Amino acid sequence: MKVLLTGGAGYIGSHTAVELMNAGCDIVIADDLSNSCREVVKRIEELGKKTVRFYEIDVCGEDALEQVFSENDIDAVIHFAGKKAVGESVAKPLMYYKNNLDATMNLLEVMQRHDVDKLIFSSSATVYGVPKVVPIDEKQPTWCTNPYGWTKYMSEQIMRDVCAANPKLSIVLLRYFNPIGAHESGLIGEKPNGIPNNLMPYITQVAVGKLKELGVFGNDYDTPDGTCVRDYIHVTDLAQAHILAVKYLMEGNESNIFNLGNGVGFTVKEVIETARKVTGKPIKAVEEGRRAGDPAVLIASSEKAKNILGWKPEHADLEEIIASAWKWHSSHPQGYCSVQKEDK
Ligand code: UFG
Repeated sequence: MKVLLTGGAGYIGSHTAVELMNAGCDIVIADDLSNSCREVVKRIEELGKKTVRFYEIDVCGEDALEQVFSENDIDAVIHFAGKKAVGESVAKPLMYYKNNLDATMNLLEVMQRHDVDKLIFSSSATVYGVPKVVPIDEKQPTWCTNPYGWTKYMSEQIMRDVCAANPKLSIVLLRYFNPIGAHESGLIGEKPNGIPNNLMPYITQVAVGKLKELGVFGNDYDTPDGTCVRDYIHVTDLAQAHILAVKYLMEGNESNIFNLGNGVGFTVKEVIETARKVTGKPIKAVEEGRRAGDPAVLIASSEKAKNILGWKPEHADLEEIIASAWKWHSSHPQGYCSVQKEDK
């Protein structure tokens, strides 16, 4: 079976690529390397013990994507490619709408032209906006608080509409909660460009001494210690869910939506404390005001993924998850190459 991964050289894409290869799939990666580098592809090949067909292309480019489908017999596609920084999306909404929605629509068009009718989409818990009930199941209402979130919401809607018009097409929407951690080898992991937006890479960059301190955004939420609660899921567990979703679609099952989280919440302060224990570093944290748009508590109900896909997350222990992130970051403080700017 041959699976195309758009954005397959990114954080979640690279981990999924390795798991797919280890499950016996051939993979093709289409990635513009805007938030990654060629070294990732080399490492995927090393960990997957096979060569990867790699295209350095922007998924928004119709001709380039057409070439990928013409040259490969693709059975299923996993669509990871997209911009994902919430703050940047607020500052440059048009760039986000144009990039993320063009990529989705272009991909759907080219897939239809080539009769490829199985798609898995990398969506996010962000589509639940500020939830009224936790844990959140897939029936909760959806709404967003920033342009990045709306691009996920709108891509989901576009996919639902295209599925309704084309009964042959089946799509699984995977809504991730907070992916952290890295491959057990320590060879691949998260490499944010510039100053990280997310908590975990920020913490590890403070721990390795690249950044002086981190801000704790808000201490007056209605949570046990006043800081936000999130559901942190190990990236390899997330990757496994993609393998199961491919299998689910290949068995002829209908389009579906699945939340992916551990179902357990940790506060920002608990994450920092655990990271201090794991790394043995002081990790200076300074309390700051709330970050706009942050919901107090996001915890997944992933019962549906467990019941229907047979998904079993294996890493529920926060210490173990953070230790895997630390193994990667402490051995790659500058990302994949010694000088970040020359990562490509
Ligand atoms: N946080 C800090 N300091 C930081 C970074 C984050 O205190 O330097 C806090 C945030 O305020 C939040 C928690 O840590 O309470 C987690 O923040 P992340 O940015 O790591 O994760 P989010 O829950 O904000 O992000 C998730 C997904 C995104 C998605 C977003 C939408 O990772 O893809 O939800 O809400 F867009």
